[in-house]
Amino acid sequence: MSKNAWFETVAEAQRRAKKRLPASVYGALVAGSERGRTIDENMDAFAELGFAPHVVGHQAQRDLSTTVLGMPSAFPVVISPTGVQAVHPDGEVAVARAAANRGIIMGLSSFASKPVEDVVAANPNTAFQLYWSGGRDTILQRLERARAAGCKALILTLDWSFSHGRDWGSPVIPDKVDLKTMVRMAPEAITHPRWLWMFARTGRFPDLTTPNLKAPGQAAPTFFGAYGEWMQTAPPTWQDVSWLVDEWGGPFLLKGVSRIDDARRAVDAGVSAISVSNHGGNNLDTTPATIRILPSIAEAVGDQIEVVLDGGVRRGSDVAKALALGARAVLIGRAYLWGLAANGQAGVENVLDIMRGGLDSAVLGTGHATVGELGPDDLSIPDGFTRTLGARAESPRALSV
Ligand SMILES: Cc1cc2nc3c(=O)[nH]c(=O)nc-3n(C[C@H](O)[C@H](O)[C@H](O)COP(=O)(O)O)c2cc1C
Repeated sequence: MSKNAWFETVAEAQRRAKKRLPASVYGALVAGSERGRTIDENMDAFAELGFAPHVVGHQAQRDLSTTVLGMPSAFPVVISPTGVQAVHPDGEVAVARAAANRGIIMGLSSFASKPVEDVVAANPNTAFQLYWSGGRDTILQRLERARAAGCKALILTLDWSFSHGRDWGSPVIPDKVDLKTMVRMAPEAITHPRWLWMFARTGRFPDLTTPNLKAPGQAAPTFFGAYGEWMQTAPPTWQDVSWLVDEWGGPFLLKGVSRIDDARRAVDAGVSAISVSNHGGNNLDTTPATIRILPSIAEAVGDQIEVVLDGGVRRGSDVAKALALGARAVLIGRAYLWGLAANGQAGVENVLDIMRGGLDSAVLGTGHATVGELGPDDLSIPDGFTRTLGARAESPRALSV
């Protein structure tokens, strides 16, 4: 291989991922919905914020470490759960190893392609993510498996409302990848020989099953089988959330919060953390960028629970901006998926190094010694930048169920 595999920005990792992956796999990672406004907004809003750097008074020693969900983190970036199906044969295990090597926490999706036991073996600081799918008994069985595997925290993602359809067209994702599918995908696969070779070397086709949703004694459901179960499950109430918090009995993150009233209800339900998130712009398009709604939510509940953010983080400077506006840490999704596609485990480590380096520069430039010292005074915030959703406590929706 003549070209240096190292890349200097996440944008370059994405360019390489686009070249390397078959169009349908790349399209599944770009995802987004409808116009794609939220996915773009999540990223663009970070660029509207500026820094207010100092010239003198910089700190020679800087500590970027923190804790999230009771686990130590070398810097405030967490792997957000994604089903990394078909991106790389080592999938979530490669991501977990990279996260462990860089001292950060792994979030594992229940729709992942690798068993939770293998992922925890690669990174003991793993949080397992569930959707509300299958009803209480099924959810409990999955939770107990994650606990037995050694997961240290639970993530419940509740912002998905089955919004499908994109103006630029959705990729065709097969139910399972067998010889017939590979023949159908051949034109795509043959024009992406490095991706094909990666899987060919393992002697297996990309696996589109969900091993962590397997019922005892049964085969793992396919991705679409699992999705069908989820669509048919009655949506949860706040009592269900409280019930799950109690059943887990440990660090618990509710992912997908956009509104202050929901954030307050989450506190009442007993969660230890929330992620201000719009599912990376994949769900209800035109939901505002997460960085715009973070300050109001952090202000409302940040003294009671941990508030983290995900959506649009592509640089270490984005991490610094989120911390300055009240996040304890950020979760990253596509950034590490691009790294994984570009160069496997080393590519994910490369992305994490980019995040840490950019954050360290921001902490240095703003004259701080720790990440906890970042605050709004370190930023130039345009008038009208922030958005506040669900501020009226008496809102009927907030009080129901
Ligand atoms: C391809 C893809 C798959 C995802 N799968 C999940 C999932 O299984 N569970 C979940 O909670 N979030 C999932 N997400 C959302 C991410 O965890 C995260 O919220 C989002 O990617 C953050 O935005 P970013 O990609 O701009 O960093 C997925 C996102 C993408 C792009």
